Amino acid sequence: MRIEIQDLHFSYPGGVEALKGVSLVVNTGEKVAIVGQNGAGKTTLVKHLNGLLLPTKGTVRIGDWDTKDYPVARLSSRVGYVFQNPDEQLFNKTVYQEVAFGPRNLGYPAEKVAELVKNAMALTELTGKENVNPYDLMPTWRKMVAMASILAMDTPIVVLDEPTTGQDAASIERIAHCVQVLHQQGKTVITITHDVDFCAENFERIIVMGGGRILLDGPAIEVLAQEEILATTYVEPPQLTRLGNRLDFPHPVRNEEEFLDMYRQLHRQRDRA
Ligand SMILES: Nc1ncnc2c1ncn2[C@@H]1O[C@H](COP(=O)(O)OP(=O)(O)OP(=O)(O)O)[C@@H](O)[C@H]1O
Ligand SMILES: [Mg+2]
Repeated sequence: MRIEIQDLHFSYPGGVEALKGVSLVVNTGEKVAIVGQNGAGKTTLVKHLNGLLLPTKGTVRIGDWDTKDYPVARLSSRVGYVFQNPDEQLFNKTVYQEVAFGPRNLGYPAEKVAELVKNAMALTELTGKENVNPYDLMPTWRKMVAMASILAMDTPIVVLDEPTTGQDAASIERIAHCVQVLHQQGKTVITITHDVDFCAENFERIIVMGGGRILLDGPAIEVLAQEEILATTYVEPPQLTRLGNRLDFPHPVRNEEEFLDMYRQLHRQRDRA
């Protein structure tokens, strides 16, 4: 399902102009990461996708729906939004109730709800924790409950706000796996993140925000090479990307595998010369 944002401006009551003319198209099935300094407007932008915020000026379209014409409850069937802080999202007494809440609310029959919950719990590795109170879980697992409760709604678009913040390596791996599976299912995944390694490893397109505007938008590899522009919004490319740039690699690399490939290739060329 296509997302189309045109000249979006948004001011919070009290006057902060958080978005200053953002235009953006995200096509069905894209995997997009949004990065940028604190206060850049990332969360404000994604809260427009399910109508939690409405434009001060400009338009946001989700498929054929203009968000200003549909209530959040309807938009939630198209856009699932996992909050940065799970504690803002969770309110049921058991993990099962929490994960079932969304699909029940969308009016699915009991059998379908049960299947959606089962799949979401399996994907987030929560199976077996059905009867636990989410608040008795470690924060890393609470995050998984927050993820599962959105995944169970089976929306064509999934938005994750800072999914890896405060998570350990195992949890980050689980989140990356969820992103992968959602992508394979043909869903659109949009993630806000400060974690450039997570971003470089898992996302094909990167949008860089600063001061309420989009500074860069393109393939991960090209965006991560723009060190100077990234620095203006306090984003550092992954360490291996920077090292490759310092070593004058002919094109940027994103991770260990690409770094080693390029290194070996350059070595072979040198040996032949
Ligand atoms: N509820 C609010 N009321 C007033 N101003 C707000 C509110 N929420 C955010 N802002 C302001 O709007 C601007 C954009 O904030 P936003 O939360 O969208 O940034 P962000 O890129 O998500 O930052 P972070 O990385 O810290 O989460 C900031 O100047 C922020 O202080
Ligand atoms: Mg934010």
